[in-house]
Parts: sequence; C-alpha cells; structure tokens
Amino acid sequence: MEIKRIKLIYFSPTGTTRKILEGIAQGVGGDDVEQVDLTLPENAHQPVPVLSDELAILGAPVYGGRLPVDAIKRFKQVQGENGLVVLVVMYGNREFDDALLELKNLARELGFHPIAGGAFIGEHSFASPGIPVANGRPDSLDIQKAVKFGRKIKAKVIAVQSPNTLIDINVPGSYPYEAAGTRTIAVSPVTRQDACTLCGTCADVCPTAAISIDDGVTTEVEHCIRCCACIKSCPEEARGMENETWKQITTWLSKNCGLRKEPQLFGLDG
Ligand SMILES: Cc1cc2nc3c(=O)[nH]c(=O)nc-3n(C[C@H](O)[C@H](O)[C@H](O)COP(=O)(O)O)c2cc1C
Ligand code: SF4
Ligand code: SF4
Repeated sequence: MEIKRIKLIYFSPTGTTRKILEGIAQGVGGDDVEQVDLTLPENAHQPVPVLSDELAILGAPVYGGRLPVDAIKRFKQVQGENGLVVLVVMYGNREFDDALLELKNLARELGFHPIAGGAFIGEHSFASPGIPVANGRPDSLDIQKAVKFGRKIKAKVIAVQSPNTLIDINVPGSYPYEAAGTRTIAVSPVTRQDACTLCGTCADVCPTAAISIDDGVTTEVEHCIRCCACIKSCPEEARGMENETWKQITTWLSKNCGLRKEPQLFGLDG
C-alpha cells in the first residue's frame, strides 16, 4: 500500500507519548505529518477522520495498567475508515499490563486495522528530580528505537496488498482486563502561593480543565486525573503533590522500578 500522509493522534499530558510518535513518524518517512493532539478539553469533541491513504499512529500513556479513561473518550471521535494504524502505549518503567491490548481492541472498534504495536518507556508522571522513576526518558536510545520501528513499519505497509489481508497482530494483555486502571484517590496537586506568579500555564495544560486562576490557583480535585502535567510545566516549580500516600507510592516506584526496561515491539514478524 502507498501512504501519502501520517496522522499522529495522541493523548499525552506530559509529552512523552508525543515524542515517541514523532520518532516513529520520522522512521516511516515523508514530510506530510499531521499532529492531532487530543490532550486538551477544547479538542475533545472534534471528529477525526483518517483517510485511506493515511497511516494513523495512535498513542496514549498507561494509567494503572490500562488506558486513561479520558484518552478512551477522546479516541472515540476517531474514525478508522478501514485504514492502517500503529498502536503505542507509553509507560513509566513499571508495567503496561493490559493497556496495549485495550488500545488494540479500541482501535478495531474504531474501524482500524492494526499493523504494529509498541510499548515504550517515558519518565513516570509522578517522578521528580528527588524521586526519580525513568527520569529523562524517552532518551536518545529510545528515540533511535522508535525511528527504527518506523522504518520497519514502512516496509510492512509497502508489502500490504489491502488492509483486509492483514493478519491480526498479537500483543500481551488479558481479556477480560485484569489491571485495575486508575483508582479514585481524592488528591490533586497543590500550589505554593508564595512561589506562584499566577502565570496560568498550569491551567493551560490541564487535560480536564480542573484548574482555575483568579487571585490564586484553585484545583477541583474531583476533575483531576493526576496526570501531573501542571506540576511538570510550572515554570516556578510551585506545584506539587503533598499527599502522604502519593509520596509513598512514588517512593515505592522509585525503589522498585529502577531497572531500565526497553521498548517492546509487536506485529513486525512474518
Ligand atoms: C495516574 C497515572 C497512572 C500511571 N500508571 C502507570 C502504570 O500502571 N505503569 C507504568 O509503568 N506507568 C504508569 N504511569 C506513568 C505514565 O504511564 C508514564 O509516565 C507516561 O510516560 C506518561 O505519558 P505522557 O508523557 O504522554 O503523559 C502512570 C501515570 C499516571 C499519571
Ligand atoms: S504554572 Fe505555576 S506559577 Fe503559573 S499559575 Fe500555575 S502554579 Fe502558578
Ligand atoms: S490538575 Fe490534575 S488533571 Fe489537571 S494538569 Fe494537574 S494533575 Fe493533571
């Protein structure tokens, strides 16, 4: 098949998923790469058609071994139209559990034919310089692997006669899903008012519009999905999680998920 355009479709609060999708697109090649960023609420309701001469690369982070609920909601707007899709989940060096299988099942529901899948590692959303979990990832080695993955995908796409002839790709995971997904713990980041300049960046990056700014920063905890985008994007380092359970979880991750994992790729053999 001939691919004229690549569409990167993603939910990526802290930007690691986006970086890997860009690396894969670089490997597939071609100048015509469109970014469809479905992270922010204002992009939540637009239909996203994928045309027959386009290759979609669909990516989301792993939350509690599953896809984030908000990513699923956003992806429901995507119309696969019998086209080819590359599936990417991004996880913070613990595990991706059922997330890639969930993404594959969702992609098929949307009308796509999955051609390949990958689980890549990104800096854990909860991590900080003091409590590191995969800090700095994806790094240059991860990006090189993403580019190489893209090259192999290109070769597979060229060899495909028609999407209907594609053999189903195998990805790990259990169905019914065993991973619990994000559990509702009523915490959200807080702002140190003495450091905050009321610049509004945190509100701009919040995927659920949970933050409002007036003479201070207010966060609606019931809307917060704990993605940590506001913490990582605050130029004054004024936002953080003060909750003790949260700190314990992050410390556990830092102690137990320190051994470097490598990207796993699926669907490229045979
Ligand atoms: C609420 C929440 C739950 C998470 N659960 C997992 C998990 O189960 N396994 C894991 O390895 N990483 C987990 N992570 C880390 C993210 O998957 C990882 O940092 C990813 O790179 C973030 O992608 P983004 O930069 O595109 O937002 C979780 C992050 C958040 C915010
Ligand atoms: S991004 Fe940081 S400095 Fe800016 S308003 Fe939010 S908390 Fe305050
Ligand atoms: S308030 Fe919650 S949902 Fe919004 S950016 Fe911060 S952590 Fe993410």
